[in-house]
Amino acid sequence: MGEKRFVYMDHAATTFTKPEVAEAMMPFLKEHFGNPSSLYSIGREAKEAVESAREQLAKALGAKPEEVYFTSGGTESDNWAVKGTALARQERGNHIITTPIEHHAVLYPCEYLETKGFEVTYLLVDRYGLVDPADVEAAIREDTTLISVMYANNEIGTLEPVPEIGKIAKEHGVPFHTDAVQVIGKIPLDMQGKHKDIDMLSLSSHKFYGPKGVGALYIREGTEIDNYMHGGGQERGRRAGTENVAGIVGMGKAIELATANIEAHNEKIRKMRDRLKDGVLEIPHCRLNGHPEKRLPGNLNFSFEYIEGESLLLMLDQLGVCCSTGSACSSGSSEPSHVLRAIGLPPKIAQGSLRLTLGDADSEEDVDYVLEVLPGIVEKLRAMSPFYKPAAGT
Ligand SMILES: Cc1ncc(COP(=O)(O)O)c(C=O)c1O
Repeated sequence: MGEKRFVYMDHAATTFTKPEVAEAMMPFLKEHFGNPSSLYSIGREAKEAVESAREQLAKALGAKPEEVYFTSGGTESDNWAVKGTALARQERGNHIITTPIEHHAVLYPCEYLETKGFEVTYLLVDRYGLVDPADVEAAIREDTTLISVMYANNEIGTLEPVPEIGKIAKEHGVPFHTDAVQVIGKIPLDMQGKHKDIDMLSLSSHKFYGPKGVGALYIREGTEIDNYMHGGGQERGRRAGTENVAGIVGMGKAIELATANIEAHNEKIRKMRDRLKDGVLEIPHCRLNGHPEKRLPGNLNFSFEYIEGESLLLMLDQLGVCCSTGSACSSGSSEPSHVLRAIGLPPKIAQGSLRLTLGDADSEEDVDYVLEVLPGIVEKLRAMSPFYKPAAGT
């Protein structure tokens, strides 16, 4: 083995903050520390910075600035969209449609609403995690008040037919929310064009090289939704709380950079990803999870038979490689993720899952390194498994 490297292949978990982003934020952590609600000059400067970031986000989404609301991240945006819509439209019904592969930031608010008398339909997904728009249409009832389907799955990378689902929702007059946390900078969004049927869209800055703890909810003009945080009059009275000015400024810069050259960027990431995929799939008893083509450019999710994902992850970490697994070990037993279960992976296979998500921290040399170290680790772990019997001659 060559020299040990540090390889970051967990961009779906978070990304590094780009230097230009950190630089744009710095003045707002130092001299421009005013509260945007204050009337004196440093307050006004902060307010202007927040509004200029709102314009950057609106431009990147093809939206109006007044349709962008700042939040503390993807989790808050999802909670606001789901609970805010359900509560605002309660008089009309209490039925919500979603999928079993949503992030917990959508699933748990739905479960919470179920305890308050709401009914939730969890659509079936196919073995790739794809939702069928016809199933969405069939699930709509008189009392349906919200449809929430994520744009791209954070674990297996599968891209859902969101524009098609939006069209159906619009035809039936049901508000449509999508969790687009994983797609910013990977799929061009246009809320006036291809995405004109999306009423609410969640995003999170730390997934596109911005700071953590800041995000936004796009709310189309005219959408019925309750206010989320109650307190001061920030965000036009809809989301109270002093704005995270530096974070918002950073997110504005980050979205500008992330959406500047999406296709060329995807091309570069996809090329590395495909080489990594082909190399890893040469390892025996290994399969790719998620859709073969309809997936995020940087996402790879594998299952290795006869192995625990966590052991794999820890051994990769020792060799400097950061990645994720779809099984979390709690009290000695590995629980496969809800996503891997929903696509029908048998628990034994789901337990050996490994997610590698590529992005700007990666180079072709990093791909070489993972391809060099991974087969040996898999072999070592399998040698310890009482269930693994290598075929003669291998
Ligand atoms: C699809 C998806 N939704 C929501 C979230 C939550 O975002 P945040 O970390 O900003 O709360 C994540 C983060 O992992 C995500 O991947």
